[in-house]
Amino acid sequence: MAKQAITVVGLGQCSIDILGGLTQYPPVDSKCDLDTVLIQGGGPVATALVTLARLGVASAFVGRIGGDDFGRRIGRGLEDEGVDCRHLLVDDAAGSQFAFIAVEQGSGHRTIFCHRGSCRPLSVEELPTELIRSSRLLHLDGSHLDAALAAARQAKGNGVITVLDGGSWRPGIEELLPLIDHLVVSARFAEHLLPGRPVREALPLLLAYGCRAATVTDGEAGSHTLSRAGKGFHQSAFAVKSVDTTGCGDVFHGGYLYGLLQNWSLRRTVRFAAACAAIKATALGGRTAIPTLTEVEALLAAGEGNTRLFRCW
Ligand SMILES: Nc1ncnc2c1ncn2[C@@H]1O[C@H](COP(=O)(O)OP(=O)(O)OP(=O)(O)O)[C@@H](O)[C@H]1O
Ligand SMILES: [Mg+2]
Repeated sequence: MAKQAITVVGLGQCSIDILGGLTQYPPVDSKCDLDTVLIQGGGPVATALVTLARLGVASAFVGRIGGDDFGRRIGRGLEDEGVDCRHLLVDDAAGSQFAFIAVEQGSGHRTIFCHRGSCRPLSVEELPTELIRSSRLLHLDGSHLDAALAAARQAKGNGVITVLDGGSWRPGIEELLPLIDHLVVSARFAEHLLPGRPVREALPLLLAYGCRAATVTDGEAGSHTLSRAGKGFHQSAFAVKSVDTTGCGDVFHGGYLYGLLQNWSLRRTVRFAAACAAIKATALGGRTAIPTLTEVEALLAAGEGNTRLFRCW
């Protein structure tokens, strides 16, 4: 079969997740059994691209791994899913990023201990400029900041839509925000902008950076979206038996990118993204239960996950 043209380029973090399932999160200075253990790839942009792959969209990951076993596992995990890794560069002397994630069975809530590794950020010269220019979407997570800024400018200059997964507020991120068309950020990111206020009140502040639409995701409380046209809505989370919420945000982004590629309305795009993320939550690991298109369509057809309009400020 002929290789599909790359539709989405993702530039960002990739890691190894070591997940341990436990009955209850332990107090300090205690000992606790892990009932299940799983090692698999993670990282916001990397997992969003795996989501696209399962949905049938060809993408390329741009980033860096160390020359260690974790790095090799990260690369294999992406390649096995069909993500193009020609621009996943290796820093032989560096250690790859990894996370230990304690997942409380029953609630599915996860606590992440993250080691950033020692890979140097990508430089502007290392960017696959032609690939970015010929793609339809560029997905970023705010890492490799200098390269991300240059990539976003290359994208904007060539009509490529830019999307940012705003996980936590990082130094310098404000320079990137005006270059983003679709800002989809975590509640943590929104709280940084407007501490102590309901997260949806951050939406106008996010829009003020110039994007077409802003969304704040808020775990089981669903997500809030506001478009430049002034339309706002809340999308509730789909009711599923949640086993592990690790990567729900990453997979939500994958579903959101998919909706953009279909030119769907914002409401349909966000509802689709929420369905993808909910299915992901039904198994341990950020990637285990990432759905196929048929699985998402089945959940959407079941009619769960309400969209509710809200008035704008
Ligand atoms: N328990 C759950 N059940 C169903 N859907 C969920 C659940 N938790 C999260 N989701 C869906 O996933 C979306 C994103 O989740 P969340 O806001 O936790 O992402 P995040 O903070 O970016 O986390 P991470 O990046 O670690 O995955 C939510 O808006 C919701 O639609
Ligand atoms: Mg996230």
